[in-house]
Amino acid sequence: MKKILVARRAPPAVLDQLKARFELDYHEGDVPLSADELRARLAGKVGAYITGTERITAELLDACPGLRVVCTMSVGYNHIDVAACTARRVLVTNTPDVLTETTADLGFALLMATARRMSEGERLLRDGGWKSWAWDFLAGADVHGTTLGILGMGRIGQALARRGRFGFGMNVVYHNRSRLPADVEAELGARYVSKGELLQQADHLVLVLPYSAESHHCIGAAELALMKPTATLVNIARGGIVDEDALAVALRERRIAAAGLDVFEGEPRVNPVLLTLPNIVLTPHIGSATMPTRIAMARLAADNLAAVLSGAAPLTPVNP
Ligand code: DGY
Repeated sequence: MKKILVARRAPPAVLDQLKARFELDYHEGDVPLSADELRARLAGKVGAYITGTERITAELLDACPGLRVVCTMSVGYNHIDVAACTARRVLVTNTPDVLTETTADLGFALLMATARRMSEGERLLRDGGWKSWAWDFLAGADVHGTTLGILGMGRIGQALARRGRFGFGMNVVYHNRSRLPADVEAELGARYVSKGELLQQADHLVLVLPYSAESHHCIGAAELALMKPTATLVNIARGGIVDEDALAVALRERRIAAAGLDVFEGEPRVNPVLLTLPNIVLTPHIGSATMPTRIAMARLAADNLAAVLSGAAPLTPVNP
């Protein structure tokens, strides 16, 4: 039987599926293996079943020359050195599509919670601070009929556009590395604008672009300065896309109204300054966290592993 490493706790049914075909080294814990532990346990394995918390580096690959495939249970793969994998003929797979709608739901929920100051209201209520009605008590921003800006118009961006356009009558503008075909733009009712126009026009800006050296801190002080003082910013992509110190200043000085963050640069550590601000909604990277979606992601990662190790083509390859 071929030997694989399952680097994180997995759903029982998926684990059974893997056990039936492979000899498993199973790390059942919820604390990720350290880089040294990962290297030691991956040595001698042909397959790795990982999540977004295990980093696959060139150095690790060199220590594990028998490795043939890395299957991540995530759509993002910025934790994997894909070029190094390709150079060593290691296939990489991810889990797109199955999490698109669920992640867009969370993005929209975060947008709503941020615009309508829901976390602030709940904290105030729990702390006994709800004394009476007042005309401007927790008055936030409207969502319906406003302008939704989307930075990164892949599958999740498009799913957000549909929610905004058809659910809330929003005017949708977007910026992306490449413009969508005209028929897709028409179907979504979305208008392509420059990044600067996006920042200036959006009432609610949602970040859904992949993380890379190019997108690192692509929302910083200069970009935040272009946004409306009434605008909200939502990040469901990767924490490193936003300069968190610059965001904290913009929120404290009310240069933008509020932010909703599901992802953080040093997660699970959260920049302590962000924790002190009232006008921010924070969730612990739960974009794809529904039971059906997480099971679908786990199953797709396992199906990819089984396909590649039986000589078939991967279902959702990252590298050719
Ligand atoms: C993804 O699938 O990339 C999510 O962010 C979970 O890691």
